[in-house]
Amino acid sequence: MKLRNCLALAGLLVAPLSLQAMTADEVVQNHCVACHQAGLGGAPKLDDKAAWSPRIAKGVDAMTQIVLTGKGAMPPKGTCGSCDEALLKSAVEVMTAPMK
Ligand code: HEC
Repeated sequence: MKLRNCLALAGLLVAPLSLQAMTADEVVQNHCVACHQAGLGGAPKLDDKAAWSPRIAKGVDAMTQIVLTGKGAMPPKGTCGSCDEALLKSAVEVMTAPMK
């Protein structure tokens, strides 16, 4: 009984940590750079202004919609299955900010 209480308490302490949402920076580092760093599968590279400018011109909302549904070699949500639309939009902003 005592051990069970102890485990339950530990669970309560750990759960909020593991459920804590990723920041946009973490999403980019954990999910997006895998392809966008090296240009895997034709992904626009992080420093390739020429590849990004026509995309950036469409606006961040249009780019976010493409990430949500996936395109070409990019799977839906850019592999971040737990990301919601708002978080993906922030990730797009983080990723494209240096090119603007
Ligand atoms: C498995 C590889 C892969 C991963 C992971 C990935 N991408 Fe992509 N991404 C691509 C490829 C390939 C394209 C080019 C698609 C095309 O134009 O055919 C692309 C295109 C894009 C575009 C441009 C869409 C447009 O408007 O044309 C954005 C924005 C983008 N990715 C954001 C992200 C974000 C944000 C993440 C992380 C959440 C991510 N990507 C993860 C491969 C990836």
